[in-house]
Amino acid sequence: MTEFNRRIVLASRPAGRPKPSNFRVEDAAVPEPCDGQVLLQTIYLSLDPYMRGRMSDAKSYADPIEIGGVMVGATVAKVSQSRHPHWKEGDIVVAYSGWQSHAVSDGSDLRRIDPAVAPISTGLGVLGMTGFTAYAGLRNIAHPGPGETVVVAAAGGAVGSVVGQIAKIEGARAVGIAGGPDKCAFVKHEFGFDAVVDHRDPDFPQRLADACPDGIDVYFENVGGHVWDAVLPLLNNFARVPLCGMISHYNDDASSTPAFDRLPGSMRDIQRKSITVRGFMNVEFIEQQPEFLKSAAGWIADGRLTWREDLVDGLENAPEAFIGLLEGRNFGKLVVKVFSEQ
Ligand SMILES: NC(=O)c1ccc[n+]([C@@H]2O[C@H](COP(=O)([O-])OP(=O)(O)OC[C@H]3O[C@@H](n4cnc5c(N)ncnc54)[C@H](OP(=O)(O)O)[C@@H]3O)[C@@H](O)[C@H]2O)c1
Repeated sequence: MTEFNRRIVLASRPAGRPKPSNFRVEDAAVPEPCDGQVLLQTIYLSLDPYMRGRMSDAKSYADPIEIGGVMVGATVAKVSQSRHPHWKEGDIVVAYSGWQSHAVSDGSDLRRIDPAVAPISTGLGVLGMTGFTAYAGLRNIAHPGPGETVVVAAAGGAVGSVVGQIAKIEGARAVGIAGGPDKCAFVKHEFGFDAVVDHRDPDFPQRLADACPDGIDVYFENVGGHVWDAVLPLLNNFARVPLCGMISHYNDDASSTPAFDRLPGSMRDIQRKSITVRGFMNVEFIEQQPEFLKSAAGWIADGRLTWREDLVDGLENAPEAFIGLLEGRNFGKLVVKVFSEQ
């Protein structure tokens, strides 16, 4: 164990695309747990698109990170000291301890991981928040039926890859949208989608139409922007759109002017085709997490659910990796290895 707590704090708020100078690496004393607390040593840190919103002070569903505050984030950590009756040294947990090597917790935010089910890093991805988000949006909003066409963008990523695989398990036809030939090949051949379309292809709208000859019954929205423009005309009457995120807009600032106003066209089609668009946060459905974990463990065991991780070595490399996430440079669930598992 290092003698200090390495942490990455928010040095300044980004305007548009975050820069390395918006982050600062600090070394501080390792915190001491009090009675009723544990000391956590971070093994893996999850990097997720929502962190971009927390770097901004715009009004949102969660408070912004203060300037000088530790960047927030989920981690897989080892309990390295325990003064808590329910946690023992060596326990592996999912925590929300942020971009730092050590943290104390009172245990209320911890979830124990069973390393026998899958590698522990999956507690941040397919068996974590992103896998659960896919499940919650499909189960509560999309209701995909057998033979229906389910389209998802960022299909090579953490949420999208699970959306397509669960849609297939439900008997639907899964069509993925991803950026570049390598991601597209992986989505089709490793995640088993029925079809995949590259959103960087100049003929993307036509290729998407070709991949969806019966239209689109469910569009799981992760991206927005030009992907939404291509999807909208293909949505069937009574289509369902779980609005999970719009990553293509997260770096927008006051200077970002859209090529055209999407609102009137979108509202017109939503009304005329009786489309349901329902925004959601995974935490709305958190009581379904145990049933999700049970189902997902079963699907992993019988080979119907798989995952891909993009592993970055070293906490100090987290800022650059996070900047890349917002530009599609990650390939799979983005995870930073902070300490070795041993
Ligand atoms: N509502 C919730 O509770 C909840 C929870 C988790 C995540 N989310 C949302 O779900 C979405 C996916 O998150 P994730 O964690 O699974 O990330 P991810 O898919 O693992 O990574 C992000 C991917 O988004 C795509 N992307 C990035 N910038 C883009 C752009 N400008 N235009 C088009 N595509 C772009 C890239 O894929 P390509 O290279 O393939 O385009 C990139 O790899 C995000 O919008 C996120 O905010 C919502």
